[in-house]
Amino acid sequence: MARKILVTSALPYANGSIHLGHLVEYIQTDIWVRFQKMQGHTVHYVCADDTHGTPIMLRAEKEGITPEALIENVHKEHSADFKEFLVEFDNYYSTNAPENKELSQTIYRKLKANGKIATKTIEQFYDPVKNMFLPDRFIKGECPKCHAKDQYGDNCEICGATYNPTELINAYSAVSGAAPVRKETEHYFFKLSECEAFLKDWTRSGTLQGEAANKMGEWFENGLNDWDISRDAPYFGFEIPDAPGKYFYVWLDAPIGYMASFKKLCDMKGLDFDEYWNKDSSTELYHFIGKDILYFHALFWPATLEFSGYRKPTQIFAHGFLTVNGEKMSKSRGTFITARSYLEHIKNPEYLRYYYAAKLNSTMEDIDLNLEDFVARVNSDLVGKYINIASRTAGFINKRFAGKLNPSTDNSAIAELKAAAQTIVHAYEALDYGRALREIMRLSDLANGFVAERAPWAIAKQEGHDAALQQVCSDALEMFRLLTLYLKPVLPKLAAEVEQFLNIEPLNWASVKASLSAEHAINEYTHLITRVDPKLIEAMTESNKENLTATVEVSALAKNEVEAAMTMPETEYISIDDFTKVDLRIATIVNAEHVEGAEKLLKLTLDIGEEADNGERTTRQVFAGIKSAYDPSTLIGRNTVMVANLAPRKMKFGMSEGMVLAASDESGGLFILTPDVGAMPGMRIK
Ligand code: MSP
Ligand code: ZN
Repeated sequence: MARKILVTSALPYANGSIHLGHLVEYIQTDIWVRFQKMQGHTVHYVCADDTHGTPIMLRAEKEGITPEALIENVHKEHSADFKEFLVEFDNYYSTNAPENKELSQTIYRKLKANGKIATKTIEQFYDPVKNMFLPDRFIKGECPKCHAKDQYGDNCEICGATYNPTELINAYSAVSGAAPVRKETEHYFFKLSECEAFLKDWTRSGTLQGEAANKMGEWFENGLNDWDISRDAPYFGFEIPDAPGKYFYVWLDAPIGYMASFKKLCDMKGLDFDEYWNKDSSTELYHFIGKDILYFHALFWPATLEFSGYRKPTQIFAHGFLTVNGEKMSKSRGTFITARSYLEHIKNPEYLRYYYAAKLNSTMEDIDLNLEDFVARVNSDLVGKYINIASRTAGFINKRFAGKLNPSTDNSAIAELKAAAQTIVHAYEALDYGRALREIMRLSDLANGFVAERAPWAIAKQEGHDAALQQVCSDALEMFRLLTLYLKPVLPKLAAEVEQFLNIEPLNWASVKASLSAEHAINEYTHLITRVDPKLIEAMTESNKENLTATVEVSALAKNEVEAAMTMPETEYISIDDFTKVDLRIATIVNAEHVEGAEKLLKLTLDIGEEADNGERTTRQVFAGIKSAYDPSTLIGRNTVMVANLAPRKMKFGMSEGMVLAASDESGGLFILTPDVGAMPGMRIK
């Protein structure tokens, strides 16, 4: 029976680029959607940018543009990234849309009418300079446990303690640097504490994976707290009806964005919104999310839907987090890789789709992108096994039989390939893509075994065996057709190229029953896929490393914090003690040279007046990301400023023992600093 299915992926925040971590989810969802569409079901896949909240508001302010302009730029960037990775949404929208505003307000009004909204006066930190209440992430101070400086308001990155921002010692606003004051404000709450019975029931209905249901159990044990759904102006978001100056917290309107994106699709395509969202809908609704946002999707969201009169999700599929080479993605290791950077270096998105699919299953376990394994797997499976079947047989059909096929009628290998369809369908359906691909590769081995045993290249040399040659190659291509069909949810672009080469209609699951017939003519075979060159991987991680080097070089006080760099404004104050920790010295550049193989770096030898025990002058070696701006020979003999007590860093080309200071901005220019005439190497800057 044809099913009607609505599928979503989590809405990415509109203040950062799509990276390889995000892509786990969008690729996982896209494969499932394509698979269901190939099954003949009616499927709608919607998503949107998550555009509201304080970080986006502050980032726009910092860039000197409106939040609307910021989210529009990001929407273009995200849309282009997804398109190139073949993630095919039926609608990719924005939470800052009229449909979302209306739905959010309607839902809020219904919750209120159902007695699920309460107001409460709370005390919160307030920035008296910036005149705004501060989210926890924007308050910093000394950790109350280990006394580490500059920790966030919710947890300490040094000792791992969690606490309230009020417990921080010497708290300061990360926006203005001012000491925050405590101020009372009225907030709106969704009475989640009253939803426990409903949520327990819902959890038991099989809507969650085992691990997720266990997590829910833990949350129930700790007791459910009412959920704070309002924020005070200034805030980029939707105003709460009849509550001037109060806005919906971003996490209230974000999941409603799933509905809004679908509403927009309904308006464009003439679909019936209510059929999918009414309380008794017989359609299916699936949310794909990462494990970090389970709380929002398994507690707040179903409760919101239940008490505003809508249907609940059929199932929530939570996946684990991406690690690269076994570790968290890291800028310094060059493994914090954006979608764009992957495309620039590796180019082919289907390699990544294949690799992720091979690693994915239906659990919340983390998945590891091991870059060496990535190359090996793609090359051996896709090129060595799958494509090999066509590349070894198509030429004979093209050259000797004018493209015409003549397959046999009872080939047991073909029969086995067809019989495996059900196993593969079940694996895809259950999100066990790893199992699906293992089965498909087993079948590829079988097909290659058939080709090797019949050895068409040997038959071709014998006279009078044309019929046998044509049959062996035709059968191999029939197997290739079936394998292409099975791989199509993962490799849609390659599959389309194969359909063109085989001269057939787009493959779908019903095509398992069909076969390439005698007399059918295929098109000329051209090489469909090339091996991944391991050098491309190295270049990709290297270039991501160097990008960081360049930014570290130019902003002397940049923290090594990915998150903070993306969301924190740079107007943080430091104390005089912080400043004096930095040992700034006048340095003479005694040598400067190019570094073989580096895109951005120059190797500098610096004299900062240091002497070895024997009294000889010693020098420091520093790699600086200034190659784009300076011919090294023009630097020799110049004085500049260096940070002398920066921890030495091991780089691909050697140790870097400090950092020289340079100025730059988005215009791309780079200017190293020069002291006034008379300054001597080794002088301290105070
Ligand atoms: N805006 C919220 C989601 C709102 S849904 C109503 C959000 N955005 S996000 O950009 O941080 O993440 C989007 C999705 O990508 C989330 O499901 C998240 O779990 C996933 N991932 C982000 N980084 C990831 C990895 N490193 N690995 C795997 N998935 C990751 O959360
Ligand atoms: Zn601490």
